[in-house]
Amino acid sequence: MDNTQTPLIKIESVSKNFHSKTSKIEILNNADFDIYKGESIAVVGASGIGKSTLLHIIGTLDKPDSGNIFFQGKDLLSYKGEQLANFRNAKIGFVFQFHYLLQGFSAIENVMMPGLIANKKKKSVEKSALNMLERVGLSLRYSHRVEDLSGGEQQRVALARALVMKPKVLLADEPTGNLDQKNSESVHELMNELNKELGMTLIVVTHNNKLAEMMKRKVTLMDGNIVPV
Ligand SMILES: Nc1ncnc2c1ncn2[C@@H]1O[C@H](COP(=O)(O)OP(=O)(O)O)[C@@H](O)[C@H]1O
Ligand SMILES: [Mg+2]
Repeated sequence: MDNTQTPLIKIESVSKNFHSKTSKIEILNNADFDIYKGESIAVVGASGIGKSTLLHIIGTLDKPDSGNIFFQGKDLLSYKGEQLANFRNAKIGFVFQFHYLLQGFSAIENVMMPGLIANKKKKSVEKSALNMLERVGLSLRYSHRVEDLSGGEQQRVALARALVMKPKVLLADEPTGNLDQKNSESVHELMNELNKELGMTLIVVTHNNKLAEMMKRKVTLMDGNIVPV
């Protein structure tokens, strides 16, 4: 990590609250957080403290109530509509606990989706999708419909889809929460390899100690701040 660089992502004085009928839930209160290219960060802590909310804010899936978010110095909160969707598709990969693959489509069709959305040429999209499926150990299953694959295989398809555009950042929310130990380990290793090889920044919410220990930095949310563990 080179702190003299501009952060890849800069969270500046960000606040986020949720309101129910009777109370206010404070997640972030003027929180600051700098994330540098190539870092690997585990976000840990008890259920309900706001880990997913933080990931959604970093990934522009949710907006803070106030504050700024910069990506390579650009003001992300000024992005709207198509510009925001294009940014997300090109720069950010998401993996969630539940894979959200498109049922009825094959593994390769799912992995091709981000490239097709970005209007890339079909042949090259197909090639990168196959490459990535090979990376996750699924080259022999590429034509299978995703609902015919096992849970671990489906999660690896989701990972291939998240990585196929070679995003600058991979945001993973309890990516192996539903997997057995063997499949978890292969997903962990793959994320780690790509972090090292491509310099892809990795931010992972996890309850898995082994995975958290693989990350260079560990943070949690406390009193509205993002703090080291
Ligand atoms: N859209 C929402 N509306 C209201 N409350 C929410 C919403 N999303 C999350 N919350 C609340 O905010 C808190 C943090 O949620 P979350 O970020 O999902 O926590 P974690 O991922 O750490 O379990 C929880 O109390 C949750 O119920
Ligand atoms: Mg969560």
